[in-house]
Amino acid sequence: MSNSGRFFDEVPDRRNTASLKWGKYAGKDVIPLWVADMDFRSAPEIVRAAVEAAEFGNYGYGKCPESLIEAVMLRLRRLYDWEIERHWLVWLPGMVCALNLACRTLEKESSQVFTHTPVYPPFLSAPGNFDLPCVRIPLQLRNDRFSFDFDALNELPTKPSDLFMLCNPHNPVGTAFTREELECFAAWVCERELLVCSDEIHCDLLLEPDLKHFPLASLSPEISERTITLMAPTKTFNLPGFGCSFAVISNGELRRKFKKAMAGIVPDPPAMGFGLADVAYRYGDPWLGDAIDYLRENRDFAFSELSRMKGLKPFSPSATYLLWIDARDLPVDSPCSFFEDAGVGLSDGKDFGTPGFLRMNLACSRELLAQALERMSSSLIDL
Ligand SMILES: Cc1ncc(COP(=O)(O)O)c(C=O)c1O
Repeated sequence: MSNSGRFFDEVPDRRNTASLKWGKYAGKDVIPLWVADMDFRSAPEIVRAAVEAAEFGNYGYGKCPESLIEAVMLRLRRLYDWEIERHWLVWLPGMVCALNLACRTLEKESSQVFTHTPVYPPFLSAPGNFDLPCVRIPLQLRNDRFSFDFDALNELPTKPSDLFMLCNPHNPVGTAFTREELECFAAWVCERELLVCSDEIHCDLLLEPDLKHFPLASLSPEISERTITLMAPTKTFNLPGFGCSFAVISNGELRRKFKKAMAGIVPDPPAMGFGLADVAYRYGDPWLGDAIDYLRENRDFAFSELSRMKGLKPFSPSATYLLWIDARDLPVDSPCSFFEDAGVGLSDGKDFGTPGFLRMNLACSRELLAQALERMSSSLIDL
């Protein structure tokens, strides 16, 4: 095994820490493969920076360092050929708050919010927080890949300024949308005069070397003017506990409204969040490359094991470290509770708008994954 493989095999013991993922099952023999954070140790450069910042001993308010702005601009240019201006950036302490902010920004202008199902649960709850109806459009499954259903979109009654909340790459189904698909979607958005909140938090987690991420807003000035793009180093480099994300909004009027929706409510990211985001973007890519190799092997291993299990139909993600499973053929009321009783804690598809499905987090050691898959397989024998 390679050194990098060993690095990801040897994870910190997160039991008895203030971990959301591991704390859910504290004192119980349940392997937590639910909420989307990684069990791995962070990149050595990030750990070093965190230790230095902790030892510095002053924990005052933060301000975005110039070097982080430059790192983001450079990264968007290098990876996506996307030229942005620095004043398009709006710093945020988290993405769930940003999804809600997008709805708050447009609560008076939009008559409704559209989103795909299944989808990361806050997409479904954010519109209702601002009394906006949420219209769910099922993703279309073709050749074991979920994507846009353009026939359904074309039949949809929309009004100008309605909001579409897009997840690209898609959590939970793991689709990295192609340039062609996104161009088609952008054309539809522009024709209907809609606005888009494009959550691209998983953009750096493409599991196939030949795949590329395309920020929706990078496709043309027209779609850019209609889009709030959300990105962050937090999923990529496993820094969600340090809350530092950003929106890219080229449309000055939309940006002004978005900032107004934040005013007095949304704090800046913490100083350490800014600092570690800066280090992650500047020095974290070698670690990320190794993490992706490890995640790809975890994905292939889990997919192959799950494919053999009676009543389960797994979908192999091309992006994200999340694996979506159709468990509707299992003769149980709640597949999620069934596997929890068998010692494996997965996310319940009903929270994503599709009961009977499950989501498995693959960002754990291979050993733990094997143990979880073994428990799942054994639990099915008596069914
Ligand atoms: C698509 C998507 N958006 C947002 C988030 C949450 O981001 P944050 O922790 O910054 O609120 C997640 C976390 O899994 C996610 O998958």
